[in-house]
Amino acid sequence: MEKFVINGGKQLNGEVYVGGAKNAVVAIIPATILANDVSRIENVPDIEDVANMLEIVESLGGIVTREDAHTYVIDTRDVSCTIVEKEIAEKLRASYYLMGVLLGRFNHFKVALPGGCDLGARPIDLHIKGFEALNAKITDDGYYIEATTHGLAGGSVYFNTVSVGATVNTILAAVKAPGVTIIENAAKEPHIIDLANYLNKCGADIRGAGTNTIKIKGVDSLRGCEHAIIPDQIEAGTYMLACAAAGGTVTVKNVIPRHLECITQKLLECGVYVDEFVDSVRVRTEKSRHTNCDIYTTPYPGFPTDMQPQFTAFLAIAEGVSTVSEGVWSNRFRYVDQLLRMGADIKRLGDNKTAVIKGVSELHGALVKADDLRAGAAMIIAGLAATGRTEIEQIYHIDRGYEAVVEKLSALGADIKRVDDTEPPLTVITVA
Ligand code: EPZ
Repeated sequence: MEKFVINGGKQLNGEVYVGGAKNAVVAIIPATILANDVSRIENVPDIEDVANMLEIVESLGGIVTREDAHTYVIDTRDVSCTIVEKEIAEKLRASYYLMGVLLGRFNHFKVALPGGCDLGARPIDLHIKGFEALNAKITDDGYYIEATTHGLAGGSVYFNTVSVGATVNTILAAVKAPGVTIIENAAKEPHIIDLANYLNKCGADIRGAGTNTIKIKGVDSLRGCEHAIIPDQIEAGTYMLACAAAGGTVTVKNVIPRHLECITQKLLECGVYVDEFVDSVRVRTEKSRHTNCDIYTTPYPGFPTDMQPQFTAFLAIAEGVSTVSEGVWSNRFRYVDQLLRMGADIKRLGDNKTAVIKGVSELHGALVKADDLRAGAAMIIAGLAATGRTEIEQIYHIDRGYEAVVEKLSALGADIKRVDDTEPPLTVITVA
C-alpha cells in the first residue's frame, strides 16, 4: 500500500502552480454529453477523479482523446447508453452528474448511487426535487436511481438547503428542457459559474450563475466548444495553509484571488501575511507561532468547508484557543483523531459540528491515515509542521484531488516522499 513519508520542520519557500478546479471539471466533463459534439477542454487537473469521470463518458459511448496531461478532446456524438453501473459510479461522488446530462439529452437515466468522501449523510433528495420540477418521474430501488419522462418542461425549484450538486444537476437537466427553469437558493460556488460559462459557449441560455437565482431558457440543441477550467480554489488554499503552518514564503500562482478571499482574511487574522496580485497570492510568515481565530464554514462566498480540515491543522499549533464550526456537513471532524495522535489538543463538542482547538507549541510525527480527500490534505499540513517523521496511509484519497502533491511540495523545500511499503523487503544474501 502506498503512503506518504514526511520529515517535518522544514520551511517552504518558492512558487507553486495551481491546476484546474476538480469540482468544476467533474461537472464539465459530463456536460460535454449535452453538447452532442466535440469539445476541447484545457487546464484539466491530472487527478483520479478526472480519470474516472473520463472512463464513465467512454463507457457510455464517448470518444476521449488525450492531447496532453491537461488537455482532452471529448466527442460525445456516439453516446447512446443511459445506464451507469455501480462499479464505476461508486468511484466518485460526481458520477451523479450523469443523471442530469442523460436526462437532459435522452429523457432517461439509470445511475447507480455515487461514492465520494464520507462526510456524514450525503442525500440526493434535492437533486430529485430538481428533476421532478422538470417533469421527470424518479424511482429509487436502493441500488439505482432511474428517471423517465414523457418530455421535460421548464419549471421552478427552491432548494431549502444550498446544494452544489443539486444546483449543477438541475442546470444540466434544464438546458434543453422546453420553457424556462428557475432555480432559487442556488449554490454560488465558482465551479457553478464555470459550468454555466462552458454551457453558454455551447449555445445554452443560462443567466444568474453565481447568484442565488439562476434562470435557464431551454434550447433545442447545443454544439461543442473550447473551454479552459478555472483554477482550483481549494488546491490553492491548501498550499496557502501549508506555508502558513510550516513557515516560509510561498507564491501560489495561477489563481483567482477573489475566490480565496475568505482564506486570505482568516490567515491575515492569524498574523500571516498575504499579498494579492493579478493571478497569484504570496503567503509570508514572520513568526513561528500565529494567533488563533474562529472559523465557521458556509456555502460560497463563506469560508469553504473543503478548507476546514486544512485550517484546523494550522490552528492546532497556533497560540490560544480557536473554534471551528462545520456548517455544511454532519460529520467532517473524523480526521481530528489523527491530529490527536500527533499531539494536538482538540475537543469535538457533542453535536460533532464544532471543534475547540487549544494550540500546542508543536506537533510530533506519527503514523496517521487520510480519512478522505481534504482530511488527507490536513495530514500533509500537520506532517510538514510537525517535528520528526509522519507516515500517511490511505493516500489514494489524496490522489483523487491533488495533482503531483509530492513534486510540488518537494520543489518548495519539503521532505516528502511517496513510498510503496507493499514491495517485498530486500533479501540480503551473505556470501560466506
Ligand atoms: C460538493 O459536494 C463538493 N463535491 C464537495 O467537495 C463540497 O464539500 C460540497 O459541494 C460543498 O461545497 C463536488 O463538487 C464533487 P452539496 P456536494 O450538495 O454537491 C445537503 C471535496 O472535498 N444536501 O453542496 O455533494 C448535504 O447533505 C468535496 O472536493 C441535501 O440535504 O455537496 C450537505 O449538508 C467534498 N440533499 C449540503 O446539502 C441533497 O440532495 C451541501 O451539500 C444534496 C445535498
